[in-house]
Amino acid sequence: MRSNDWQPDSWQRKPATQQAQYPSAEALQLALSQLSGLPPLVTSWEVEALKKQLASAEQGEAFLLQGGDCAESFSDCSPQIITNKLKILLQMSLLLIHGLNRRVIRVGRIAGQFAKPRSADSETQNGVTLPSYRGDLINGEAFSAESRIPDPERLLRGYGRAAMTLNFIRALSECGFADLHHPENWDLDFVQHSPQAAEYQRVVAQLSGSLRFMEALIGGGNSEIHRVQFYTSHEGLHLHYEQALTRRVPNRSGYYNLSTHLPWIGFRTAGLNGAHAEYFRGISNPIGVKIGAGMTSEYLQELVRRLNPANESGKLVLIHRFGADKIAAELPALIESVRRSGINHLWICDPMHGNTESTASGYKTRRFEKVLSELEQSFDIHRHEGSVLGGVHFELTGDDVTECIGGARGLDEAGLERAYKTQVDPRLNYEQALEMALAIVRRAS
Ligand code: PEP
Ligand code: CO
Repeated sequence: MRSNDWQPDSWQRKPATQQAQYPSAEALQLALSQLSGLPPLVTSWEVEALKKQLASAEQGEAFLLQGGDCAESFSDCSPQIITNKLKILLQMSLLLIHGLNRRVIRVGRIAGQFAKPRSADSETQNGVTLPSYRGDLINGEAFSAESRIPDPERLLRGYGRAAMTLNFIRALSECGFADLHHPENWDLDFVQHSPQAAEYQRVVAQLSGSLRFMEALIGGGNSEIHRVQFYTSHEGLHLHYEQALTRRVPNRSGYYNLSTHLPWIGFRTAGLNGAHAEYFRGISNPIGVKIGAGMTSEYLQELVRRLNPANESGKLVLIHRFGADKIAAELPALIESVRRSGINHLWICDPMHGNTESTASGYKTRRFEKVLSELEQSFDIHRHEGSVLGGVHFELTGDDVTECIGGARGLDEAGLERAYKTQVDPRLNYEQALEMALAIVRRAS
């Protein structure tokens, strides 16, 4: 239940960090009033269905697979890029279902992951200093004064791109593409050359066999097998945008953020008394929050109480991201303190954001072995503490990019330049993502 003083705009009375500074307040208001009259992107039924599934993940009965780009860009709203992302998430989910023997909840960082927090407000190149790029929802990536000015028209374009992406995802999820009888639809051109191909194909063959067996046993097909559920998520950073899509719905109490199923609070904006915690504490969606190095037990207890005030199951996803070198020292005490709070929660591991580094030639990268190490330590720590690691959160793509170092193919620093495409953080490529799913299965089962 919301406390009485919460409103979709009550965050505006709190300090909001990482927000865009628009040159014209009128132009911003105009864009927001248009946005607030547009249809929602998701429905409260879907949001509630996801909450139920997350509640079962808290019990160890389901596993959350959350993944996608660090930052989506407007120009990547193309059929190829969207289907490739769905394909890798579907393939990973098959491996996880098979290996963990649990239902897998698929959530993309997709259809709205357009706003980015930045460590610095400005960027200097060749003696010229300009405002930082904050994601396509806010300004342009090109290094020119004009492109870096926040433009409220981009809010409407972002909404449009999210709607187009979601429309395509929904169509694919309902048709033959998502039919578990035909996982060959999810193969990517380069699958057969992948070092993981044989293991993946073996799992698919076993699953298809089990499916045929089950259908023979119960007689006829189960319609649920012909489509998949796919949910969306993004960092709820731009609070004016989120507010404009926060709505009441008939026959339910409270307010829903209908821009996405599972919005999350980023690490940099997770302050207890900040605007983001204020906005998120009042919406009815399940919500995520990034948990990282330096957060204390007392702070975290306060935060979980604030973000899950009615102590609902399936409501609060705690996404820890410490880095392979810090997790062992920091996570155990936090697991214990959240348990002591008595607040329902689901722990998942983001092994990406604590493991970012720069190469001598200036590429932002992550080492496969560090990402894997954080993930493996996570499983071990949760097991040791008697808690459930109920999911994973990755930055990945279904394309053949070269952004993270390592993996079975041994991508090295020199290889990064071949296909380094990300606008912000380095993503696992298709093969590295599949390899990671196989590693999870090995560690967790
Ligand atoms: C992100 O998920 O892209 C991100 C910026 O993460 P964090 O808030 O954990 O740094
Ligand atoms: Co990122």
